[in-house]
Amino acid sequence: MPESSSKLFNYAGKKVVLTGGASGVGAAAVELLAEAGCTDLTVIDRNEPTGAATAYVAADLSDPDSIDAACEAIGGGTDVLFNNAGVAGVHPSDFVLRVNYLGLRRLSEGLLPTMNRGGAIVNTASVAGQRWPQNLNEILELIAVDGWDEALGWIADHGELVDPTPYEFSKEVAQVWTMYGSRRSYLDFGVRTNSVCPGVIDTPLLHDFRRHLTEKVIDWMVDQSAGILTPAEIAAALLMLGTDASAAMNGHNLVVDHGFMGWFNTNQVDFAGLA
Ligand SMILES: NC(=O)c1ccc[n+]([C@@H]2O[C@H](COP(=O)([O-])OP(=O)(O)OC[C@H]3O[C@@H](n4cnc5c(N)ncnc54)[C@H](O)[C@@H]3O)[C@@H](O)[C@H]2O)c1
Repeated sequence: MPESSSKLFNYAGKKVVLTGGASGVGAAAVELLAEAGCTDLTVIDRNEPTGAATAYVAADLSDPDSIDAACEAIGGGTDVLFNNAGVAGVHPSDFVLRVNYLGLRRLSEGLLPTMNRGGAIVNTASVAGQRWPQNLNEILELIAVDGWDEALGWIADHGELVDPTPYEFSKEVAQVWTMYGSRRSYLDFGVRTNSVCPGVIDTPLLHDFRRHLTEKVIDWMVDQSAGILTPAEIAAALLMLGTDASAAMNGHNLVVDHGFMGWFNTNQVDFAGLA
């Protein structure tokens, strides 16, 4: 255990890998990690980051070969992996699932065996995945499918489940994967796995959410959340899950939404704005 609280949020001496660091939440995390003392930060993204990352690996997280090459480039000794990159439901279902689940999983499994014990994997999921209990059996079936192409086959065969809301389904899978994968990561490798589940955040991706979820739904959520979340607020929660401040947390999906889901679950939101 850390000796003092000043060490709890400290990233000095840690090797950190972050996906999606070129924009939005990831870009905010790059800045916060530098402030927290991180001097070894590799960003994996299809776009080059402009922030204070110390290394950049260009990769397409929808492509298994590209992910494997990124793992090779990063090598061993990672302390914290932030799987943060994601895409909205404006893309074909298989692409959304490739980036938001299959790519996240492949990168984690590629780096995990050589990660340092005491390390952490932190996924960026979403409150959009809160309905995972309704689809748990199907999601566990998908998780049990070995192989990238085989999993894509399962996704294609389950269009009735995936296609109406591919983003929501991908984030349901991300939450279940966080719980499921945390057992092996912790027991076999001493690495915790958790996720942050944000509400609506003010990032470039919001443009796509407005397209696929509609302006009305997004505006309603922001109104009922007492304001939109900032990328820095989500980055702070991600960083907390990467440090010993969360040393006993594993397999946890942390909702970070100003309280919206709690109010929703206790019938305290006003649905009038959705009519
Ligand atoms: N913005 C929101 O309202 C919101 C809400 C809940 C959860 N999230 C999640 O937060 C995470 C960060 O999203 P953001 O809002 O900062 O979005 P963003 O679009 O600002 O940033 C996403 C980053 O991921 C990268 N990326 C996307 N697809 C990629 C691919 N195939 N290969 C490599 N890099 C890729 C992009 O280049 C970009 O740098 C995502 O997982 C998203 O689903 C966002």
